[in-house]
Amino acid sequence: SSSGSAEKEKTFAMIKPDGLSGNYTDEIKNAILESGFIILREMTVRLDEDTAGKFYAEHSSRSFFPALVKYMTSGPVLVMVLEKVNAVADWRALIGPTDAQKAKVTHPHSIRAMCGQDLEKNCVHGSDSPQSAEREISFFFEEFSSGAVGSKHDELLE
Ligand code: TYD
Ligand code: MG
Repeated sequence: SSSGSAEKEKTFAMIKPDGLSGNYTDEIKNAILESGFIILREMTVRLDEDTAGKFYAEHSSRSFFPALVKYMTSGPVLVMVLEKVNAVADWRALIGPTDAQKAKVTHPHSIRAMCGQDLEKNCVHGSDSPQSAEREISFFFEEFSSGAVGSKHDELLE
């Protein structure tokens, strides 16, 4: 920017069903805020199979996909838009590696080490790139979608 200060960035975060049902929400939000993120938006939603499958479309041909969709539809999730400088990379670092079992060994202070169970049930999601962040934010939050009336948000959540 013309001021010379670093640009703020947005990322997409989700507390998955095991994170919500395990009552980790306050602990996760504290970690988010202590790390300097602002929670711009948050919403609790219950994903159906179609929506969970579209969210994880990049993995649709993987052997773990049916189990992943079943897990993601097993209870409500909390979706959030986070903002700070370097939000995408910093949120990925804070959640830790995909496999929560490994996270407990290699990244014991990460969120997945704190509340995740294994490679599938890892309690939180984070966008893996700025492009993914844009897609995932607009997937759930209509106001960040560039589409007009009748955007994919309406099809997917209604
Ligand atoms: P992936 O995008 O590889 O991980 P991340 O969430 O760290 O970006 O995978 C998406 C989700 O799919 C992951 O959070 C948990 C699930 N998953 C499995 O259940 N089994 C697997 O072998 C992998 C790689 C992922
Ligand atoms: Mg991923």
